[in-house]
Amino acid sequence: MTEAIIAQVGQLLEQHLKNSKAKKTPALNQQAPEIIAQELLLKERIKEGFQGQDDLLAFVKTYLTHTNHLSHPHYMGHQVAVPHDLSGIPELIHGTINNPSSLYEMGPAGGTCEGFMINWMLEKIGWLEGRDDYDFHFTPGKASGVLTHGGSVANLTALAAARAAIAPDAWTDGNPNDLVVIGAASAHYSIARALSILGLGKKAFYPVAVDENEVLLMEDLPRVYAKAMADGKRVMCVVANACATSTGLFDPIDAMGDFCQENNLWFHVDGAHGAAALAGPQSKQYVKGIEKARSLIWDAHKMMRVPALCTAVLFRDFKDQAAAFQQKGSYVFHDTEVVGMDSMPYTIECTKSALGTKLFWTFALEGEAKIGEFIDQSFQLAKDFHALLNEEEDFTTPYFPQSNILCFRYEKFSCEDDFQKLLRYTIINEKRFYLTSCEMNGQRYLRVVLLNPKTTIEHLKYLVEEIKKTALFLN
Ligand SMILES: Cc1ncc(COP(=O)(O)O)c(C=O)c1O
Repeated sequence: MTEAIIAQVGQLLEQHLKNSKAKKTPALNQQAPEIIAQELLLKERIKEGFQGQDDLLAFVKTYLTHTNHLSHPHYMGHQVAVPHDLSGIPELIHGTINNPSSLYEMGPAGGTCEGFMINWMLEKIGWLEGRDDYDFHFTPGKASGVLTHGGSVANLTALAAARAAIAPDAWTDGNPNDLVVIGAASAHYSIARALSILGLGKKAFYPVAVDENEVLLMEDLPRVYAKAMADGKRVMCVVANACATSTGLFDPIDAMGDFCQENNLWFHVDGAHGAAALAGPQSKQYVKGIEKARSLIWDAHKMMRVPALCTAVLFRDFKDQAAAFQQKGSYVFHDTEVVGMDSMPYTIECTKSALGTKLFWTFALEGEAKIGEFIDQSFQLAKDFHALLNEEEDFTTPYFPQSNILCFRYEKFSCEDDFQKLLRYTIINEKRFYLTSCEMNGQRYLRVVLLNPKTTIEHLKYLVEEIKKTALFLN
């Protein structure tokens, strides 16, 4: 029974992917939740349960029609990976055997895959320092890391560790009122959230001025630091965007790292999107100096074809990781020698999914070199799109892309921000493309994130034509 159902769900998924890739379905066919709920028979099915195998499969079929088709080459929306066709298998395995990987004894294979992939990442940063990939020990003085459910949780974890370093008593006594965090005014909102969650308040964020493309201005960093000192504050950490969410541009990581070293400051790199550049032979130039970080986050579910969620939070010294959460749960944290390694003492989550397994699996499907090639290709595609837009009249591109994200405007009929928004909504409601829009430097832009390996410059030429046609129609 299980085998037959899994096989049939597999067939439905295969058809779904084929149709998406061949553009036989729109990237997004969005309906109101009331309509979807009715089509999925949610009320009926929760009461009566699935009425046999056919009913279950009917649910899956209907469900798949109401999804955002990320494998469609016109999907160029949010920073969410387009997984490899078989990337979901570990989710099936995990969902069937339910081995959370935070306690080694609850999932030894998952815990081992996590430890191995953490070492793989540490090696990319240059932090493994001759240790073997199979060295799974958490060792003070050596780099370490854990996987966690997403970049927001990972940023919170890193900031909790930074707080523990500067104010070790805060865990018990609450925060002193002199802690601040410095970073680009364009830092991801999860940093401000983390500060509020930690009880420091959003006001503890001291923003550094950014240029017209929202990249941190290095010359303003000493000024903000001096202001913090003059205000009688202590700097808990300095945060770099690698890269910024809206633009895909990298803060000056290398110079920021030097500044932090000179002033003995904790340097945190938010590499949710762009740390993946470390895996791309051509792209890693953009993260030069990343090894100067004391903590770093790296999402695998953005650039690395891994299904959401899967993020690493990495520390140059395990002692920092160990200090973040100063808690004991008698039933889980053992003082005595146990087999393997538990990540639970170092994560916000108590139970967590088998994150390392899906990370390893996606890499193993084609070998790690392919992921690196994919990252380089997607970065290059944004550059090609930039060149294409520059040949066109009435399109403006504010910057040369450094990653696979590009913002642009079409201004033939209107320079109003609302017109860019209207263009986007019309295009996605017409079901032709799925793209996003964002505000940058006070202006509204259309925005593409190119992370579908099937998307080519031909699809982007088509997008340009679609924008022109839509604008003409709206005019
Ligand atoms: C720079 C940056 N940091 C953090 C995050 C949050 O990551 P997640 O969506 O995995 O929580 C994002 C998400 O886009 C991001 O771009």
